[in-house]
Amino acid sequence: MIFILIPRASASAIRINEVLNVEPEINDPNDPVDKTEKRGYIEFKNVSFRYNNAEGEALEDISFQAEPGEVTAIIGGTGSGKSTLVNLISRFYDVSRGSILIDDVDIRKMSQEYLRSKIGLVPQKAVLFSGTITQNIRFGKEDANKEEIVHACEIAQATEFINDMKDGYDSEISQGGTNISGGQKQRLSIARALVRKPEIYIFDDSFSALDFKTDAKLRQALKKETLNDTVIIVAQRVTTVMNADRIIVLDEGRIVGMGTHKELLSSSDVYRQIVSSQLSEEELA
Ligand SMILES: Nc1ncnc2c1ncn2[C@@H]1O[C@H](COP(=O)(O)OP(=O)(O)OP(=O)(O)O)[C@@H](O)[C@H]1O
Ligand SMILES: [Mg+2]
Repeated sequence: MIFILIPRASASAIRINEVLNVEPEINDPNDPVDKTEKRGYIEFKNVSFRYNNAEGEALEDISFQAEPGEVTAIIGGTGSGKSTLVNLISRFYDVSRGSILIDDVDIRKMSQEYLRSKIGLVPQKAVLFSGTITQNIRFGKEDANKEEIVHACEIAQATEFINDMKDGYDSEISQGGTNISGGQKQRLSIARALVRKPEIYIFDDSFSALDFKTDAKLRQALKKETLNDTVIIVAQRVTTVMNADRIIVLDEGRIVGMGTHKELLSSSDVYRQIVSSQLSEEELA
């Protein structure tokens, strides 16, 4: 036993020390700008980004602006860089070239805490923890009261299945959310972002597991809730992005089209291809 356990323990100890000694790549500035005049303005200025271990650039020369009251949608094939683009806004990585401004301030000049307090992110992979539904939603806002939680769940179209569960809002979610469906997980993850009442909402492919009817209902409720906020929606479905104020078409890390649905139909080949692969002629008219 001892011969087996000692080498194992020493290998573990070495690994644990390695993890503890990792220097974070993203650091706060010494003198952070944690106050802004504006709220909800996003600007990408010629942003390029390459992952540390990758050869090519995941994003190349990305420039666009988004404002409060607007919905910006990002569409593009798998691996085109959609998640990479939105994750740069929360500063999970630093840009390789160019800059990202929020409310006219370079995000590298803010503390991460302040930056992230402005953002409600629903990541592509909904992450739930073991605990009750209420506890999971409070990860978005620690002191959220019952009313705020119920309101967020209503918009996220989650109340029906929550009320159907034996203990309602006190029902236990198992680690990773294995005891609920993918669409239910997505909706709880959306409710968690909504309860924060952020300036900027980012939905990374957050409606993909919902049926068309629930998707439409959710987006309609969302629209009312986010009238004065900045919304970024990453999606694969044309029906999800069609009504956005601005659609960004990504292809291999580059913007190959930007405009409204109507504008892109006449200006972007890539967009037309995506549309014609999903919609029938009648739906287009
Ligand atoms: N952590 C990482 N390290 C290295 N390369 C990565 C990493 N994450 C993504 N990539 C690469 O960057 C490119 C863009 O990936 P990204 O996840 O942004 O695509 P996406 O448009 O969100 O795709 P999907 O629609 O499948 O979610 C891909 O080529 C991918 O392989
Ligand atoms: Mg993605």
